[in-house]
Amino acid sequence: MDNPAKGPSFSAIAKRYPIQKQYIELLGRKIISGGSGTWGYPVMGAHPKLSEEEAQAMVWYILSLESSE
Ligand code: HEM
Repeated sequence: MDNPAKGPSFSAIAKRYPIQKQYIELLGRKIISGGSGTWGYPVMGAHPKLSEEEAQAMVWYILSLESSE
């Protein structure tokens, strides 16, 4: 939740991105295809078995952590 592991913590991600359609879609695609460089951490591998709907549901959850603080 608050501790970065291999990647950024959920709360850091929630602070960075407002809950807006464009970010939900962007981050959902990023979870599926993987990526690097945005946080200065190593690479997040791809999760190609996730559907966009599943990935976006995860993004909704992560970004919702900011407003519940
Ligand atoms: C389904 C599980 C996962 C979800 C929902 C998830 C979610 C996310 C999100 C939303 C970001 C932010 C991307 C951005 O700001 O552009 C991110 C970044 C990152 N994640 Fe994950 N992640 C998952 C699994 C993993 C795993 C298994 C690893 C590594 C073992 C990992 C490593 C990273 C790293 C290194 C970054 C930073 C990439 C960058 O600098 O652009 N993630 N993750």
